[in-house]
Amino acid sequence: TAILGPVYTPDDPHHVAYLQDALVEINQTDKIIAVLTPNDADYQGHLRQAQADGRLTKLTPGQVLVPGFVDLHVHAPQWPQAGHALDKPLNEWLNDYTFPLEAKYEDLEFVQTVYHDLVHTLLANGTTTVLFFGTIHTEANLVLARECMDQGLRSAIGRVAMDNPDQTPAYYRDRSSEEAIAETERFIQALELLGQDEPLAPLPVITPRFVPSCTDGTLAGLGKLAQKYDLPIQSHVSESNWEHQYAIDRFGIHDAEVLDRFGLLTDKTVLAHGTQLTEADAKLLHERGTALAHCPISNAYFGNGVLPVKQLLAAGNEVGLGTDISGGYSPSLYDNIRHAVALSQVRTDGVTNADHGAPDSRISMPTAFYLATKGGAEALNLPVGAIEAGRQADLQILTDPHPWPSESPLERFERLMYQANRSTVAAVMVNGNWVYQVRD
Ligand code: GUN
Ligand code: FE
Repeated sequence: TAILGPVYTPDDPHHVAYLQDALVEINQTDKIIAVLTPNDADYQGHLRQAQADGRLTKLTPGQVLVPGFVDLHVHAPQWPQAGHALDKPLNEWLNDYTFPLEAKYEDLEFVQTVYHDLVHTLLANGTTTVLFFGTIHTEANLVLARECMDQGLRSAIGRVAMDNPDQTPAYYRDRSSEEAIAETERFIQALELLGQDEPLAPLPVITPRFVPSCTDGTLAGLGKLAQKYDLPIQSHVSESNWEHQYAIDRFGIHDAEVLDRFGLLTDKTVLAHGTQLTEADAKLLHERGTALAHCPISNAYFGNGVLPVKQLLAAGNEVGLGTDISGGYSPSLYDNIRHAVALSQVRTDGVTNADHGAPDSRISMPTAFYLATKGGAEALNLPVGAIEAGRQADLQILTDPHPWPSESPLERFERLMYQANRSTVAAVMVNGNWVYQVRD
């Protein structure tokens, strides 16, 4: 395949590149092999050849090509309650809404209906890679894996471990740390079997829900499992005042330090939220190569603060973006990049509240776009998230409803990112295959 049209792709955390009339060449299997612009000597030759071979897709006027988005934090089972009870504090929302819903994923018919719809919805919103939390149910998590492979979504999936009787309900918990570890290991092996020879085999992810929901034995056992299988790890960190204080009361240290104590901070770890992290905590994550999933919509409801994205990027921390379905109500990373910019301004200078204010915190749209693309790709150590030779061909075609002739390319990019929604996404490619196309 070859695609001809205007391209926006992230350069670095602060800049987006615009390539006019770019020719993006994709090999027969999965990868971008060249991105040529009219100034390149071999551009005309390649263009003619692609046309002659009948493998050229030409974008229509008003369309642009951007990388598929990487969503670093989705609770798959919470999709049916996205938009419910967001006026409650985190602990209450978990106990009264979230745990009862997640407990329903024993029912595989319900599981199938929800996960089919969720995977389709994510693709339709331009998301091509997702890091998922499942539930404690191994079979349900395998249904999610099957859906991702069938519909063509790149994914990593965690079987949630939660066994602390003080912080989890009797109807929805692992009975012991032995069970949490054994069931996690069973899931890893079953997923590896299911994904054998599949190009989009989901990666298993070690998933202690968060420090409060796990006993010491489970945290320690999961750290060992991650090492034994060399797997990615995901959890929540310093999400709210309540959660941050819980770790201090139980361990006398911050939850980031607790995770580190149990071997759960590695360069393959992705931690959601982090609004209450101290500078020392952030430094620890940086030293370990651990990434943060910034979930701006969710944090507006539950976070009691705003993640200082600009400062973290300047310090060299890895940061990507997450919808946090259903702490966040929207399945769209477009909604989240807008909120990332908006919330960065809530935090910036002039704000006097000592918990939330910080000088020079504003980020602009290219930075939010970076979080949703290259930042997420780096967090997962996956070669996706940019339209560059050597990366996997995960792309979106957007149809701009208002291509004003008065705009500069950067202005057009900003407006598109502010106004894009599901109906703007015309087609989505994952691993070189068109997996979603608007029917008109
Ligand atoms: N902390 C522990 N579990 C959850 C969850 O499901 N969602 C959010 N936002 N925070 C959590
Ligand atoms: Fe979450």
